[in-house]
Amino acid sequence: MLLSLYNVMSSPPSYHTKVLCKYRVIIGVAVIFFVLFFFNQTYLKSQYFDSNIFTIKYQERLLQPKEAATNLSHLMFVLVGSSRTWRDRKVYLGSWWRPNVTRGNIFFDVEPSEEFQPWSPALPPLKVNEDLKKLKIYPKLTNRNHTRIYRSILENYRLKQDEDVRWYVTGDDDSVFFVDNMVDVLSKYDHTEKHYIGMFSETIKSNFHFSFDMAFGGGGYALSYPLVKALVEELDNCIERYHYIWAVDHLQSLCLADLGVDLSLEKGFHQMDLYGDISGFLSSQPTAPLVSLHHFETVTPLFPGMDRPGSVNHIMKAANVDQSRMLQQSICHVRACNWTFSVSWGYSVHIYEKIFPRGYLKLPIETFRPWWHGGRPPFYMFNTRPVSRDPCEAPHWFFFVSIEQEKEGVVTSYKRKFPRNMASCFFSGNTSADPLTTIRVFSPKTPKPGRKVECCDVEYEGANVAYMRLRDCRRHEIIA
Ligand SMILES: *[C@@H]1O[C@H](CO)[C@@H](O)[C@H](O)[C@H]1NC(C)=O
Ligand SMILES: *[C@@H]1O[C@H](CO)[C@@H](O)[C@H](O)[C@H]1NC(C)=O
Ligand SMILES: *[C@@H]1O[C@H](CO)[C@@H](O)[C@H](O)[C@H]1NC(C)=O
Ligand SMILES: *[C@@H]1O[C@H](CO)[C@@H](O)[C@H](O)[C@H]1NC(C)=O
Ligand SMILES: *[C@@H]1O[C@H](CO)[C@@H](O)[C@H](O)[C@H]1NC(C)=O
Repeated sequence: MLLSLYNVMSSPPSYHTKVLCKYRVIIGVAVIFFVLFFFNQTYLKSQYFDSNIFTIKYQERLLQPKEAATNLSHLMFVLVGSSRTWRDRKVYLGSWWRPNVTRGNIFFDVEPSEEFQPWSPALPPLKVNEDLKKLKIYPKLTNRNHTRIYRSILENYRLKQDEDVRWYVTGDDDSVFFVDNMVDVLSKYDHTEKHYIGMFSETIKSNFHFSFDMAFGGGGYALSYPLVKALVEELDNCIERYHYIWAVDHLQSLCLADLGVDLSLEKGFHQMDLYGDISGFLSSQPTAPLVSLHHFETVTPLFPGMDRPGSVNHIMKAANVDQSRMLQQSICHVRACNWTFSVSWGYSVHIYEKIFPRGYLKLPIETFRPWWHGGRPPFYMFNTRPVSRDPCEAPHWFFFVSIEQEKEGVVTSYKRKFPRNMASCFFSGNTSADPLTTIRVFSPKTPKPGRKVECCDVEYEGANVAYMRLRDCRRHEIIA
């Protein structure tokens, strides 16, 4: 618009065009006023802050101006658990649930034992699933437990608590959600359309076994409200139609497919169908907001020297300050020593005694094992790097210890938890990184735009501490 105005003003000055010009300039100015006024209104509306820096919203501009941006109050969590598993798992739900902020319910097979009564108000309200025996198809059901779990969506809907709800989000009692990032991801989509959003499993065989076109429920998935409405009308019929299907998530994908809706993939949902030490996986996340983690009981604790519940509460300390950067990888180089630094924000720092490009370091180090034992590779839906004993290839590992909020930004600290026990990398200058014990990472207070990689610089003066400073990448910056 400004461009066309400029053209008008610089056109040749014949009498007719001059008159025309005048009108166009007047109209143009009126339009500019209107736009500025309108912009100001929506801009002011978006200026709210709270303790979590993520809530300085940047997604507002993607939405229609008259409709408020999606926030946490528009999400309804439908969580499923069982009285059997609750003792070990309540800590995982407690780590992310925000009492009086997050909305939703957790559904159980039976009333929990007295040990868990009265039910804590810091947890989602407890509901007990309806008895399945009233269904005509009951005797033919292949997996009654899963059918019970599946009907939680319908039972939640019937509670009539859905005022202003835009999305249903389902998860297990051992799913951990990063709810600010969930809001960020869902606000990309039009909640008045039918959407089914989630991710498949990390393991090829899991997807092959069930479906490549289904969201795995431990990582959680989201259904827009119009889709929920269509689904609940059909849900019991669909159970009849597919009574022979074993897995609830598979059943869900079939029911939704029959409603004409297929899965939209979002890389931040993690079913975590992996075994063992997942530190390699958590150190090279996709560049996408981290939405969920799952399966804490089949992996070793997330941090060395901690137990499982402790390690989940520990990772949430960083997440509670800035979810937008959680597990996001930034890579920078110290040319004077031929070192490469890689941070996975809020989790780990790696130092390599060699210059590696980002194209290589974004592959996870295969510290973990596949979900299905035996067989031959390929196992995973992503490429990996091998664990190495080569001093030029193996990183020094540092793990997240603390977070401090400063005036200008946030500082996360990472400490060496075990020595590397290797010589230094001779071919790239033989400069050992062994003296380093602590890495401090400065990040700006503004949230990281969801799908953008951040660059960094390293300050190191030869002592035991190095500083990394995250910043926007320069135009055409090469991370190699
Ligand atoms: C979320 O959006 C609704 C509008 O639908 C608004 O009334 C509410 O104040 C917002 N909540 C927060 C925490 O911003
Ligand atoms: C939630 O809100 C209720 C009433 O508004 C209040 O009594 C209760 O203490 C709050 N709970 C928490 C955990 O903040
Ligand atoms: C179904 O759930 C019941 C009660 O929670 C449990 O005892 C049973 O082992 C479960 N069955 C299967 C096949 O998982
Ligand atoms: C960095 O490594 C290269 C070989 O990859 C080597 O030629 C160069 O001398 C090294 N530089 C320093 C400062 O050690
Ligand atoms: C490489 O560095 C180590 C100390 O990190 C030193 O002991 C060794 O002698 C060095 N090797 C060469 C060939 O310079």
